[in-house]
Amino acid sequence: MDVLIPAERIQQRIAELAGAIAADYDRRPVTIVGVLTGCLMFLADLVRHLDLALRIDFIQASSYRGPVTNPGELHIQPELVPDVAGRHVLLLDDILDTGHTVAALVRHLEGLGAASVRVAVLLRKRGRQEVPVEPDYCGFDIPDEFVVGYGLDFNDEYRHLPYIAILPRFPGTDAAP
Ligand code: IMP
Ligand code: MG
Repeated sequence: MDVLIPAERIQQRIAELAGAIAADYDRRPVTIVGVLTGCLMFLADLVRHLDLALRIDFIQASSYRGPVTNPGELHIQPELVPDVAGRHVLLLDDILDTGHTVAALVRHLEGLGAASVRVAVLLRKRGRQEVPVEPDYCGFDIPDEFVVGYGLDFNDEYRHLPYIAILPRFPGTDAAP
């Protein structure tokens, strides 16, 4: 697979994002809410740079992307309720694609009583947003390719790669997986 973002570049950029986040929160307590499972590497590497009063919680959402279902229809795992009432929340997701997931999760966290909700994404795909979501922190803008590694999966594989790679398109088709 072609490497799009090498491991060292990811680490360098995460340190920069952490610097910006730490300066913005300026010692205000923050609850990082990671979107499972793609956030795992990003979250683990980011929080190790953050010298803040910090809590970590998780949320899980899946979108139905089959040919017969409506893309963007989102299921939020009801048994995983992050404790965010009155807290300043930083929502962490691996990638902003259409924007449906992040937009719905921001509304969901506000509904749970968060005092504020900001958004950090490692990647943002160019030209794909259907919902206007402006992340407060974004690691990299990437081309419209299906990417894996560093938490991102295809069929739950490849999450463990320390870099971001482009998944080859199926031979003979133009479609992403
Ligand atoms: P959105 O709701 O369209 O913004 O989709 C966001 C979710 O789709 C992400 O949290 C990922 O789980 C998944 N996703 C979108 N693009 C990719 C990709 O290129 N590789 C792996 N997962 C992706
Ligand atoms: Mg995923």
